[in-house]
Amino acid sequence: MLERYGHGGDWTTAEERYGRPEGGWLDFSANMNPAGPPESVGRIFRDHWREIVRYPDPAVRGLRSKLARTYGISPDSILVGNGAAELIDLTVRGLRPQEALLAQPSFKEYEDALRKEAVPIKPHLLSAEEGYLPGSAAAAEASGLSRDGCVFLGHPNNPTGRLVPRRTMDELRRSAPMLLLDEAFIDFVPQEEDVSLLREAAESERLAVFRSMTKFYAIPGIRLGFMVAHPRRIAELKALQPPWSVNFLAQRIGEAVLDEREYAARTRAWLQEERPWLTDRLSELNINVCPSDVNYLLGELPADGGWTARALQDYLAGRGILLRDASLFPGLTERHFRMAVRLREENERLLRELEQAFAKGAPAHA
Ligand SMILES: Cc1ncc(COP(=O)(O)O)c(C=O)c1O
Repeated sequence: MLERYGHGGDWTTAEERYGRPEGGWLDFSANMNPAGPPESVGRIFRDHWREIVRYPDPAVRGLRSKLARTYGISPDSILVGNGAAELIDLTVRGLRPQEALLAQPSFKEYEDALRKEAVPIKPHLLSAEEGYLPGSAAAAEASGLSRDGCVFLGHPNNPTGRLVPRRTMDELRRSAPMLLLDEAFIDFVPQEEDVSLLREAAESERLAVFRSMTKFYAIPGIRLGFMVAHPRRIAELKALQPPWSVNFLAQRIGEAVLDEREYAARTRAWLQEERPWLTDRLSELNINVCPSDVNYLLGELPADGGWTARALQDYLAGRGILLRDASLFPGLTERHFRMAVRLREENERLLRELEQAFAKGAPAHA
């Protein structure tokens, strides 16, 4: 299976399994900005590559101050990491919670980080009937946690693509002993400033927010993320982090992309148009699409079509297209898949392939 290491976007596994397609993969399995990295990223590589003869700044001062200015928070409340994934792992190691409430389906790293530290997990299954949105029941469960417990939530959540509703967020903030909020995809949300809890996290002992820079700026290969929490918590976690975990080029790239205002505006404008268009086209194929606030969609294949997400993934991979089989997420079924929203002609190609697949019918063993 393509998700051998737990994630989409794994071209090496795809090539081991399916061979390398002529013309390369069209990748819907990882949720990257299809515009590719902004121009400034190329400039950093060109102009600064010789500087890798030096160690990077161990305190990541340049990028932290720029993030602090961008978001209006103190640099002491920011820790930069080798991707948000590193910071999620580090936080669980540092926090050593006694138990954790985990809304599911959700990003696999929350569960993995908790299991590595043998933290007992209380799963809270988000239901299809409630649109996979957490509600008062989640807040009630959070208030039942012990004082050293924590709650993990994606905001917006992956793979469902939904923001946590404001009322639930307020309830959770009151009831959770410690709320760990993953805002890895929130830059794609036009009203990001209003819905992000980054500024609150900078001053709270009971809230931490993770942000990724790899999705919005399409730089997953360089690894870059940051977290915001109370300065005391940040200092504790920094002491646990391996030295130089954020390389020199990543630090420079992080500083440069924060100035990419036009790129950011263009990305949000593209998504506002493309997501509803794609959702409608998928619905015309009888795919049940979960409403999304971000750049990916959770889809459910029609029950009477015979296709499972795994069979469809194999079929599409044979045609050079990668799709995420979402059946492995707790709470989802063998008919669930996740796909990135890409550029119009790429989306059209996928739609044509889906149409052909459905017309042919599922393979006998699907
Ligand atoms: C919800 C979510 N959070 C965090 C991450 C990790 O992002 P990064 O590339 O910054 O480590 C991912 C990556 O897929 C993700 O989907």
